[in-house]
Amino acid sequence: MRQKIYVTRAIPRATIEALEAEHDVTVNGDDRALSPEELGRNVAGCAAIVSLLTDRIDGALLDAAGPNCRIVANYAVGTNNFDVPSATERGVALTNTPGVLDDATATHTIALMLAMARRIPEAERFLREGRWDGWKPMFFIGADVDRKTLGIAGAGRIGRNVARKARGFDMEIIYSDVAPNQAIEDETGARFVSKDELLARSDFLTLHVPLVPETHHYIGADELGRMKPTAILINASRGPVVDEKALVEALRERRIWGAALDVFEKEPVLAPGLIDLPNVVIVPHIASATEETRLQMGEIVSRNVLAVLSGKQPDCCINVEALTRRSATRAAL
Ligand code: DGY
Repeated sequence: MRQKIYVTRAIPRATIEALEAEHDVTVNGDDRALSPEELGRNVAGCAAIVSLLTDRIDGALLDAAGPNCRIVANYAVGTNNFDVPSATERGVALTNTPGVLDDATATHTIALMLAMARRIPEAERFLREGRWDGWKPMFFIGADVDRKTLGIAGAGRIGRNVARKARGFDMEIIYSDVAPNQAIEDETGARFVSKDELLARSDFLTLHVPLVPETHHYIGADELGRMKPTAILINASRGPVVDEKALVEALRERRIWGAALDVFEKEPVLAPGLIDLPNVVIVPHIASATEETRLQMGEIVSRNVLAVLSGKQPDCCINVEALTRRSATRAAL
């Protein structure tokens, strides 16, 4: 039976077509994040919602969708926009797109590291402004990356991928996480260290932790104060993992050498002063934005949605209990 699917924002056409082959699909044509009220109105009566990390999926939204809603499929690997208990309670499966954006995000992390270390955006701005008057030896002096110490906070799939890529620069890799991770150690020779050691020893510190209450402001004024004055901080995880106001202060006072940021605490708004600093590279949350990755994310989303709507288990469910809860409720009816 054809069912109603709502897609909260334009995503690759191939994904929409895969869904349309079996169901009735409506896509938010405005290409902007909708308010909770608008979303609530648009999802009413839908069996599936394809959401983005900018859509808060909580009990109120699921109630607005109604009892037919069986799945919310995030077009993202991150799941911090989900209120998981509320969905599980209502028997709504929540899915994400793990794996397919690891390479793109890790490559982007390395690009950010290089861009900041070699001051590429700053030098490019200088050139474009017509200010270059010729070669000088003491001009745009950056930092070497080769054989430096790379600190990785969070040794999940993306953190490990960054470590593998960084081996090409013969970097010493240290990492911190809630527990040691054998895979990163076997693959890259990375060494598990405490957060204190990570902060004190990293020449480059890159963040790959999920955003959960424990990692909110994982890097704040105190942590920035414990980093080397020559250190570069890289964040392509989630903005609120860094206290952006404290980072602006630290960069302004040159307590660390620089930062390269793909994500921000209150996207799309940046902390006051951040945009004016020369020692920061800032890009608008594009770590996974490659043609190939976006298509693969879409394939996972459509597979997840079609599976659930035909009564099968999706591949990437983060709350499998929701599926059991729904079948138990149906059996009881
Ligand atoms: C994700 O998937 O979580 C990224 O941050 C957006 O593509």
